[in-house]
Amino acid sequence: MEDDHLAPSSSHRFRLLPHPPLARPSRGTAGAAGRSVAKRLALGLCAFLLASGGARAAANPALLNDKDAFIADLMSQMTLDEKIGQLRLISIGPDMPREKIAKEIAAGRIGGTFNSVIHVDNRMMQDAAARKSRLRIPLFFAYDVVHGHRTIFPIGLGLASSWDMGAIERAARVSAIEAAADSLDMTFAPMVDISRDPRWGRTSEGFGEDPYLVSRIARATVKGYQGPSPARADSIMASVKHFALYGAVEGGRDYNVVDMSPLRMYQDYLPPYRAAIDAGAGGVMVALNSINGIPASANTWLLQDLLRKDWGFRGIAISDHGAITELVRHGVARDDREAARLAIKAGVDMSMADTLYLQELPGLVKSGEVTVAEIDRSVRNVLGAKYDMGLFHDPYLRIGAAADDPPDLYAESRMHRADARELARKSLVLLENRNQTLPLARTATVALVGPLADSPLDMMGSWSAAGKSESSITLRQGMEEAMRGQGRLLYARGANVTDDARIVDYLNFLNWDHKEVFQDPRPPADMIAEAVGIARQADVIVAAVGESRGMSHESSSRTRLDIPASQRALLHALKATGKPLVLVLMNGRPLDLQWESANADALLETWYSGTEGGHAIADVVFGDYNPAGKLPISFPRSIGQIPTYYNHPRVGRPFVEGKPGNYTSQYFEEKNGPLYPFGYGLSYTGFSLSDVVLDSATMARGGKLGAQVNLKNTGTRRGETVVQLYIHDAAASVVRPVKELRGFQRIALEPGETRTVRFEIDENDLKFFDARLQHVAEPGDFEVQIGLDSQDVKRASFTLR
Ligand code: BGC
Repeated sequence: MEDDHLAPSSSHRFRLLPHPPLARPSRGTAGAAGRSVAKRLALGLCAFLLASGGARAAANPALLNDKDAFIADLMSQMTLDEKIGQLRLISIGPDMPREKIAKEIAAGRIGGTFNSVIHVDNRMMQDAAARKSRLRIPLFFAYDVVHGHRTIFPIGLGLASSWDMGAIERAARVSAIEAAADSLDMTFAPMVDISRDPRWGRTSEGFGEDPYLVSRIARATVKGYQGPSPARADSIMASVKHFALYGAVEGGRDYNVVDMSPLRMYQDYLPPYRAAIDAGAGGVMVALNSINGIPASANTWLLQDLLRKDWGFRGIAISDHGAITELVRHGVARDDREAARLAIKAGVDMSMADTLYLQELPGLVKSGEVTVAEIDRSVRNVLGAKYDMGLFHDPYLRIGAAADDPPDLYAESRMHRADARELARKSLVLLENRNQTLPLARTATVALVGPLADSPLDMMGSWSAAGKSESSITLRQGMEEAMRGQGRLLYARGANVTDDARIVDYLNFLNWDHKEVFQDPRPPADMIAEAVGIARQADVIVAAVGESRGMSHESSSRTRLDIPASQRALLHALKATGKPLVLVLMNGRPLDLQWESANADALLETWYSGTEGGHAIADVVFGDYNPAGKLPISFPRSIGQIPTYYNHPRVGRPFVEGKPGNYTSQYFEEKNGPLYPFGYGLSYTGFSLSDVVLDSATMARGGKLGAQVNLKNTGTRRGETVVQLYIHDAAASVVRPVKELRGFQRIALEPGETRTVRFEIDENDLKFFDARLQHVAEPGDFEVQIGLDSQDVKRASFTLR
């Protein structure tokens, strides 16, 4: 049972979507307020400059190019209090009034900040650290740059739907360039939590259900954020999150417990974090959940045995927001003092958004409960991260000089619209297209309806960092532009996202400075009547429906996966007109689309497609771009089917399609399997695959095996598709998944063109974790499956000798 006193406090309210920056020019009317704050801070800065010395840490400059020696020298000069100060990461916002900030920093009581994205603010704080504090140790500035910074890219599920590692790396690179230009040094990303339970609102932020695909994306994003080195002025350090297993919270309810077998952990949930670390991620954010009874923030096995000893991680481990205090609520610490002791001993280097380390560590060291060596271990990691971000070489590396501060943070010249449009187009997944309803003719009369058709805020999705909704192109704008001077676009809102006042209140509570959800005050029946009226005049209806962005966010878990009733009522009325019905879905999780899939003529999954979403969707709707996105997560038929993931372990009584289902693994009132499988997505052209040809029927240990198919474009348009390679292990010492993705290639073909697509399989592709958690390949038979989704595949077998 939850304790009453744990009800969210008012300061909790300010933690979401994302945490508010010190000054908020990014938010509508807050612009003027932000500028006046900036002026005040600039005045404060002059005072600092008068008192400042050189901006270089007090360690021996001769050692600057030897990281370990430099840090050892610096640490030898630090008092215990200064060391503890380095372990504190503060959130800039209402819980940290700005009068206090500079004083605290100059006293050496803060190691880094997050949520401050403005040069003038960050320069003021860096001055306090790098010029005014005794040892002149620079701060770092972090932020949740999750799917873009000023330019917003599609949400995680959308990025993943592109299956295009080059494009995803480019999105992360662009995000880093924009964030670094805004004086940021670190992002809390990539978020690589595997999610198989769409009730969990943070499914939207991740990259789906598959360890292989998510691991590939983890690598691509780390490379993108950090570039050739996190020390570059246009790179930011990646902190992979949430370590670990946060996506497996029980029942999909956020912050709930995770209880998982070691086999599943190693096989399915841990690989993406490992991939990010192997790609060089400098940071790790520790998850809020417990794992098999021990909260991650107090989990020595997780943070030391696995992360540091097994995986060799040498970077910084940061707690999630307030997570150390939460150890008391998990019930593993009596009080804050014990919470701080558990966290530092487990290996949480920095405590985010609380003062626990500052308050408790001095006493714990004095009493001998925490050793100086344990403090030093974390201090070394924090200073090491600062070193790796290039901040000891130049604390102002990303802040730059005041004279170069951008006059307008949202200037178009600072945006990367072409990259955003390109990636947004790649992220769209065509789920249905009966009678080739799509693409539409530009000359048609189109009735555009739905509460998400013209909602710039929702286009961005949640965790849209410093994005500004005014920069977003909505679907209405995109279609208007595309049809200008040709057809007719009629528009009616048709419905609110929901008519449930409790849900509207909840969603509005998520944001700190303006309403999240616009409610049209007209009676629902009037809105529907208006929409039906324009539908009757049109050749085709395009309805933009789904969830408002806050419905797929942190703490936004759902018990239903359907499109809210207000929108369903609209869709029923539109269907009754008999006009062709195209649904443009905007949502951050797989939905139950049984009605929509049976009744719509075309279904286009667009997730939340970002700043350029409206253009990108219009490109697809009018056929300027042929969609090629593929689902990175299965869509269940109903909520009762969850979890519905393609790579589920085998069972003794599998359900066999077409046979009577008694005493086999199934739900008797529903078909087995997902509505739309992992890897699925249509194109405006058709593709066919030949049978699989293997180089040989056997593979020797340490050897390789080629597997190939011929892919043909059978239609009349140029198009791209993703050819997917799965492996099925016939028999092993532990129960294995029915199949696992082991490779994919995105291929473009002209009409009628055929291309041979070849995959190289090696022993690593056959490996799994056995009962002793050894990563092994066992001899025996394997099936290679190649297809355009995870279900419709061609097969061939070989033996590993
Ligand atoms: C979230 C993290 C985020 C952090 C800082 C937390 O509430 O769980 O994902 O990075 O806040 O904004």
